[in-house]
Amino acid sequence: MRITQIIFSPTGGTQRVADILTSGWNFDAIDKVDLSNPKTDYSLFNFEEDDIAVIAVPSFAGRVPVLAAERLAKLDGRKTPCVLICVYGNRAYEDTLIELHDLANQSNFKVIAAISAVAEHSIMHQYAAARPDRQDKRQLQDFAKKIYEKITDTAACDIPLNLPGNRPYKKTGGSSLIPKADAKCTHCGICADRCPAEAIDRNNLKVSDSKKCISCMRCIAECPSSARKVNSAMVAAAAFAMKKACSERKENELFI
Ligand SMILES: Cc1cc2nc3c(=O)[nH]c(=O)nc-3n(C[C@H](O)[C@H](O)[C@H](O)COP(=O)(O)O)c2cc1C
Ligand code: SF4
Ligand code: SF4
Repeated sequence: MRITQIIFSPTGGTQRVADILTSGWNFDAIDKVDLSNPKTDYSLFNFEEDDIAVIAVPSFAGRVPVLAAERLAKLDGRKTPCVLICVYGNRAYEDTLIELHDLANQSNFKVIAAISAVAEHSIMHQYAAARPDRQDKRQLQDFAKKIYEKITDTAACDIPLNLPGNRPYKKTGGSSLIPKADAKCTHCGICADRCPAEAIDRNNLKVSDSKKCISCMRCIAECPSSARKVNSAMVAAAAFAMKKACSERKENELFI
């Protein structure tokens, strides 16, 4: 049996959650499909019915990030059993999990379990700071055990899951948090190489293309000179507006 992680994780929180889950299964090797690489031809990946896929995405404004959705649609799951993970920054994940479920079905995966999990908010880092933490780890390892028991029970895997969320999904707006580089920029080009949306032109590294940028915050997280930033007043205003919704600790959930 082969495990494949199919992951969109611009700043690493989603990847950390998926790693905790799959480490609980004790497999030697884990294949990876990185949904953040604009150069990959996603139609070339192969899956088999006796593999397990873990599809993990962050929630962006309560939805699956648009690039992750487009790239997932190119995969052919060939009825491979799959576990869905939606990671969010302690506000809410709204329609993310149900949309991810629909995308996985459309790509021919067989969804057998789903998880919502909390990780540090990648824009407002004060919310869910340093999560997943030890308590999350214990919870996710317990989920891993329960899912593993289900994988071997073929009849149970045929029962459809009941997931939270609405259809039609909530509407998404354009992004207003577009990073820019300041005078500390050394023109190393790392941000352009790593941008999942190809929104940074190598010949004009200081700005990001607002039509392509999905505000994923990877260029800020990976800039070695701490030169890339979004408008701090806008972030502070958003953090203030969301304080009530984001402050109380939310727990991870398993749908099985
Ligand atoms: C553009 C954007 C939108 C987000 N929207 C939400 C949201 O609606 N609810 C929430 O709880 N967290 C939200 N977050 C926080 C992320 O879901 C969370 O930090 C996640 O761990 C980021 O995943 P990553 O570290 O793999 O990039 C958002 C983050 C970004 C960058
Ligand atoms: S990663 Fe940072 S220093 Fe390098 S080009 Fe981008 S903004 Fe400039
Ligand atoms: S330019 Fe936009 S899409 Fe590209 S890495 Fe930065 S925030 Fe993400």
